Amino acid sequence: MPTFAPLQNDTFLRALLRQPVEYTPLWLMRQAGRYLPEYRATRARAGSFLGLAQNPDFATEVTLQPLDRYALDAAILFSDILTVPDAMGLGLYFVEGEGPKFERPLRDEKQVRALAVPDMSSLQYVFDAVTQIRSALSGRVPLIGFSGSPWTLACYMVEGGGSDDFRTVKAMLYNRPDLMQHILETNAATVAAYLNAQIDAGAQAVMIFDTWGGALADGIYQQYSLKYTQDVVRALQKEKDGRRIPSIVFTKGGGLWLEEIAGIGADAVGLDWTVNLKTARAKVGDQVALQGNLDPTVLFAQPERIHQEVANVLQAYGAHTAGSGHVFNLGHGISQFTPPEAVTALVEAVHTLSRPFHVA
Ligand code: CP3
Repeated sequence: MPTFAPLQNDTFLRALLRQPVEYTPLWLMRQAGRYLPEYRATRARAGSFLGLAQNPDFATEVTLQPLDRYALDAAILFSDILTVPDAMGLGLYFVEGEGPKFERPLRDEKQVRALAVPDMSSLQYVFDAVTQIRSALSGRVPLIGFSGSPWTLACYMVEGGGSDDFRTVKAMLYNRPDLMQHILETNAATVAAYLNAQIDAGAQAVMIFDTWGGALADGIYQQYSLKYTQDVVRALQKEKDGRRIPSIVFTKGGGLWLEEIAGIGADAVGLDWTVNLKTARAKVGDQVALQGNLDPTVLFAQPERIHQEVANVLQAYGAHTAGSGHVFNLGHGISQFTPPEAVTALVEAVHTLSRPFHVA
């Protein structure tokens, strides 16, 4: 295991751990992506998205691109949540303009019963990318590792791709809860091993994306999504080389379950833009840090309006006090159509406008 350069900017990690910071740190979900011309150029050289994600040299290059342009406070591993079902043998592929698909989705009992935790060596290219990115960062900012939640992975594994209504996966959940539980247990064990291996490879924080938790009914969400995310959080290594490895749980559409999500043991909860940060902070107190939650479409507005909306998010969280913690982010991934200059305005606004909230 290589020794990595000391961290020069740990603002993001301190905010996640609810320690004092001088300004509100920020990073953006999907910060390395198609809105950047340099990403599109590297992707053309790699041939495809999977060509990028499966090659540690390309993955390192695109991970660093947004950091070279903007003063972001964290890097996120360039990969995808669907590497995990791919390693389980489902056969991931992308159709241009249609998003991810699987050659062998889980449709019958036999396929589900055959599902098992894959050997982590099949994901070695991800761990190699983590180590290479961490080295290339030279301590500039911390590196975030990530995974999909057990439920969100199950959605793609059963549907065989994206879905508008999730009727195949939900029908399995209601008709054959035994099969769904087997999938979710297998996914939880796999995700825990996967994130722990990313931590061993050099990830300094980890995030679990439960993008489709909000598609579930109240009661079903707790039983089929949150429970298994909690199993993952419990199984995570909490410290590496004497430093705490904070965890973030993001459930899109999970605002109504905020207190329950805050109670599963993660250090931070990611919020989409439907949630008011003041209300959220009042509900969770000092139990967790909050991450979010600017509407990504604000980045299509003029710089003045971006400033104003950033101020609203910062104002909603409010003045920092002992035990508070806020990481600025979008409420979901950045759109591929975002003008890159809008991000310049965003980063500048967050870094300057947040300072007065941290003076206490
Ligand atoms: O945030 C980052 O910069 C890190 C990289 C990252 C990607 N996907 C790269 C990517 C992360 C964290 C993800 C997570 C992911 N992937 C999620 C959870 C987060 C979320 O957005 O809700 C989900 C649901 C996926 C599955 C996935 N991958 C979809 C639905 C798509 C197609 C959507 C689209 O925008 O086309 C992908 C492809 C993908 N993953 C792209 C990127 C940059 C676009 C690929 C391209 O270059 O064509």
